[in-house]
Amino acid sequence: MLAYIRRVEPVIFGLTGGIGSGKSAVGKRLQGRGLPVVDADQLARLAVVRGSRGLAELAHYFGAEVLTATGELDRARLAERVFADDEARRALDSLIHPIVRELAAERFVRIGERGEPLVCYEVPLLYEVGLERDLAKVVVVHAPDLLVRARLTGRDAFNDAQIDARIAAQMPLADKVRRADYVIDNGGSLAELAQRTDAVFEALCSSLGVSVDRYPAIN
Ligand SMILES: Nc1ncnc2c1ncn2[C@@H]1O[C@H](COP(=O)(O)OP(=O)(O)O)[C@@H](O)[C@H]1O
Ligand SMILES: [Mg+2]
Repeated sequence: MLAYIRRVEPVIFGLTGGIGSGKSAVGKRLQGRGLPVVDADQLARLAVVRGSRGLAELAHYFGAEVLTATGELDRARLAERVFADDEARRALDSLIHPIVRELAAERFVRIGERGEPLVCYEVPLLYEVGLERDLAKVVVVHAPDLLVRARLTGRDAFNDAQIDARIAAQMPLADKVRRADYVIDNGGSLAELAQRTDAVFEALCSSLGVSVDRYPAIN
């Protein structure tokens, strides 16, 4: 007789926003409260580690010039190729996205097997790829453009042109805010961000019927 296998899927909500808006800062706060957070950026890096199928596909499409001497992905080189060229960026996306989806699905199953009722999926291009259809709710992090630029200069040492290219490659933030179920305003300090994250998270839990007691706020 076949064993009856009960697979409990966690409820998945999305976390997105523009580049540098503070998604990872929000994700870190949620993780600090004990919520599992899956980071699509991290999975995208995993998809192209040295020796991976993903990296082989990239090298096949873009040429060996996107590899370093030691066979790693040369990110700066690839970025320069794709941010200047829509077709190249679409090709990159269509190589990487299916791998990221597979890796994410594996993570969600494992998280569900641990009995977790809820998981946050942090995805920069969530709306751009139509992912909201598969998510219970979407949270958008928003910060004023000037602040984002200053923060990105601190984080990535990008110049203005590099930041412009990255912002231009995304859906306008105002459109994301309009589509969001919840918006977190990251126009203040990190302490304010933590507070606003907590408030949104608590509202989200209540609307999804998940007990927030599972995720104690630590200060
Ligand atoms: N409220 C804030 N005050 C000061 N620095 C912030 C704030 N929010 C984010 N940052 C910093 O700005 C940079 C971008 O934030 P991050 O969370 O990495 O953005 P994203 O993941 O959306 O690209 C990081 O260096 C982060 O530490
Ligand atoms: Mg991030």
